[in-house]
Amino acid sequence: MHSRPRAKVNLTLSVGPVGRDGFHPLESIFLRVGLADDLTVSFGDGRGADQLTLGGLPGAPIEGNLVLRAFSLVRRSLGHDLPPLVAHLDKRIPMQAGLGGGSSDGAAAVDAALQLWGAGLAPEVRDQIALELGSDVPFFAHNVRAALVRGRGELVEPLDGVPSDLGLVLVTPPVALSTAAVFARFDDLGAAPDAPVDPAVLTRLPESALELRGANDLWTAATRLAPTLGVLRDELERATNLPWLMSGSGSTLFALYPSAQAAADAGRALVAAELTSLGGAVISAIDLTGPDPVWRYQWPSEQ
Ligand code: C5P
Repeated sequence: MHSRPRAKVNLTLSVGPVGRDGFHPLESIFLRVGLADDLTVSFGDGRGADQLTLGGLPGAPIEGNLVLRAFSLVRRSLGHDLPPLVAHLDKRIPMQAGLGGGSSDGAAAVDAALQLWGAGLAPEVRDQIALELGSDVPFFAHNVRAALVRGRGELVEPLDGVPSDLGLVLVTPPVALSTAAVFARFDDLGAAPDAPVDPAVLTRLPESALELRGANDLWTAATRLAPTLGVLRDELERATNLPWLMSGSGSTLFALYPSAQAAADAGRALVAAELTSLGGAVISAIDLTGPDPVWRYQWPSEQ
C-alpha cells in the first residue's frame, strides 16, 4: 500500500477557554494543501511487532509516531490476531511546524491497515480512532479539501468553493513549536478569543487573506515562545506587501497567491531579497494537490 498523506494549513483558528479534559474548544478553517509525506505499508515476516522505518527530513522520532499508534488502535478495535505490518515513512512535511504532517500520516495508516487486513470498521469506531490519534486527525480522515473544524477537532463540516488554482508560499523557520506548549502559553496569557471568521471568506481567496491575518488566536502565544516569528512575519510582509498567516500553533507562516506559479515566483523573489530572518528556513511554493512542491528552497543556516 502506497499513499501520499498531505499537509494542512489553518486559515483561521479561534480558541475557547480550556475545558476540564485539558483541551480547548476550537473553531478553525482547515485547508488541505499539496505537500505530502510518502507512506508505504506491507506485511512483515512472521509474528513479531509492527515496524516502522523513517527517511526524508531528519529528526523524526519513531517513538510516539502516529503510524505505529494507528496500527495498534485499529488492531485493538478489530479485536483479533492480525499479522504484523511493516511501514516506511519518508518525511517531507516539516515537523512541529503546524502543518499536521504526523496527523495526516496517522489517518493514512488507518486506511492502509484496514485495506491490508481486509477489514472494515463502523464509521463511529473510525471516528473514535481518529480523535484518539490526535485533534487534527478527524479532518484528514474526512478526505476533503477544506472544512470548518470544531469541538476538540472531531466536528468536521466540509466547505466548498475554495478556488482550485490557489497557490501558497510556506515558510517554515528552524523553530519547532510544541502544540501543547503553545496552548499552555495561551492559557497563561488569558486573552479573550476573537469572534470566528465567516467561512465564506474561503471562496474569495487570495484577496480575502487580509481578513484572516488576525484570525489565529495562538499567534501571540507562539510569538512569546519564539519571538523570532514576529520578526520573520514583519520582514515577509514588508518584502511581499501581502499578509502572512500562521498555520495552527506554528511555526509555519504562509501567504496565498492566485496560482502556484505566482507562489513560486514570490518564493524566488524572497530568496533574492536575502531577508536576514530567513536563515535555516524551508521555503516551499505549493498548489492544493501536490503531492510535491512546485518549487522549494532550503535556506542555509546562519554560521
Ligand atoms: O490532540 P493533540 O495530541 O494533537 O493535541 C496536542 C496538545 O495540544 C494537547 O495535549 C493539548 O495540550 C493541546 N490541544 C488543546 N486543545 C485542542 C487540541 C490540542 O489544548 N483542541
